[in-house]
Parts: sequence; C-alpha cells; structure tokens
Amino acid sequence: MTAIAVLGSTNMDLVAYVPRAPGRGETVTGREFRTVPGGKGANQAVAAARAGGDVVMIGAVGTDEYGSRLRTNLEHAGVDTDLLHTVAGPSGTAHIVVDDEGANAIVVIPGANGTVTALGPGEKAAVAAAGILLLQLELPMAAVTEAARTARAHGVRTILTPSPVQLLPSGLLDAVDLLIPNEHEAAALTGYEEPHAAAQILLRQVPEVMITLGRKGCLYAARDTEPVHFAAPEVTAVDTTGAGDTFVGTLAVALGEGRSVAEAVAWASSAAALCVQKPGASTSMPRRSEIDAA
Ligand code: RIB
Repeated sequence: MTAIAVLGSTNMDLVAYVPRAPGRGETVTGREFRTVPGGKGANQAVAAARAGGDVVMIGAVGTDEYGSRLRTNLEHAGVDTDLLHTVAGPSGTAHIVVDDEGANAIVVIPGANGTVTALGPGEKAAVAAAGILLLQLELPMAAVTEAARTARAHGVRTILTPSPVQLLPSGLLDAVDLLIPNEHEAAALTGYEEPHAAAQILLRQVPEVMITLGRKGCLYAARDTEPVHFAAPEVTAVDTTGAGDTFVGTLAVALGEGRSVAEAVAWASSAAALCVQKPGASTSMPRRSEIDAA
C-alpha cells in the first residue's frame, strides 16, 4: 500500500445550521449547533484512511479540550498521529455557517496550526518515506513549501489543494505534481472564471491540474493532453463541508493503488457525493466499503 503523508491543519469546526447565511450587520436564527472535528489537513487524512489508505498526519493541536478530541478522531479513523504535536495554547477552530442548500461560509482561526512553521527531522523522514504527500494552505506557507520541496527531493508525488486561496510562491509550485483547486480558487489564482482557460494558465506552473466544480464534477488537465471533464453523481446536499477534502483524500488512495485518473476520479466523486449527504466534515466521510457500494 502506498503511504500517504498529510501536512495540514486540524480544526474543531463550530457549525451553525441556518436557513440562510446572515448578511453584513444582520442576525439570523439558526436551527442547530454542532462541534465536529475538521480542518482541511485532518479531513483529507481521515478520508484517505477510511478509504483504506496508510496515512500519517503532520501538524499540531492545542492543549485545550479540543486538542485531545481532534487527535482521538484521527486515531479512530486509523491515522498515525505520532507527528501531530500538542503545543501550548488553543487548537485551530473553524466557525462555519451551513445554509439550507448545504452551502457553507467559513472563518478559520489557526491556533496551534499557526505554530507549524518548519519541519523537524521526523517530519522530513515521514514525507520522504511516503508515496504521496497531501498539502493544503491552512498551515504557514514556509512549512508547506518545505514539505513540498522535501517530497520533490525524494521523488514523492505532491498534491496541493490551494485553500484558503492565496498567492503561491514559485518555490512551492515548482514542487507540486497535481494542483486541485475548486473553480473559485482556480479563478482567483489565474483571473479566468472559465475552468478550461484557468487550467491552461495553471499548467504553465504545474504538470497536472484538477479543477473541482461541485455538483458539475471536475475538469482534469495535463500538459500535452486534451482536458477531460468528469461528471459527478447527482445527489441532494445537506452539508458540503469537507466534500473537497473527501475527494482529495480518496483520490490519493486510488492513485496510490495505481488506478487510472478516470477510475480514481469516479471513486473519489462517489465518496464526495456520500459526504455531502450527511452533516459535518470528518463525521460524514465514507468507509471504503461504502464507496465501493456507491
Ligand atoms: O474544507 C473544510 C474545512 O475547512 C473545515 O473542516 C474547516 O475546518 C476548514 O478548515
């Protein structure tokens, strides 16, 4: 089995379910409140482990009550947490509003995630020993870049989710094999709303791009080949939080098993479709048997 290293955030998601998100200066009454383990890094790790991956999580949680719950959640999913450090202070939190269409708006407070500014020898060894490295942008850029460059030096395939979207240093992009933005992130990175146009711009910097399009599926583009659009299963979403992370984590497992891009995308799309039909991030990620059945 290909080992998957995830360097990324671990957050407690504080989720308010509301009929519609409030506008500026407005107060709305919600239906329900939940605390759910999340964070883009931890979500990808949980998704990959539930899909059958051999996963190690690199990051940090705080000494508050959330820290131990976040660690336990990863361990229950089968993720190796030896490199998930506990640091003094609060854990990362995400303040999320989910509306009746399942769409969300998120504010992230980094907390312990913000202390991960560099990789120690253990973290570098875990990245070097992996087959695939998963990165997102909820940890300091210096650590993300160092991990990508360590992976590149050891021939490890690096997949980057550029979220929350921000300027990407060339030192990072040079070491990325597959970039997976959503359509909004792709537009923000390139200035092009149209996914084909955005993909062509991004291919100048990375060899493979997969732009996720929500219920419209995804667009895959690689250098010297024609772009391919893959459809997504049609389902009714109750909460899309973590769907993109589920897609990426599951995709990594399939690619690590040597499946084709088309097979991997189909499998990952099924997993994401299952995820959006339940509330919460890591709590809604399917197990391998559920993905296969779907
Ligand atoms: O991608 C979804 C995740 O983004 C949430 O779980 C939240 O923690 C934020 O990091």
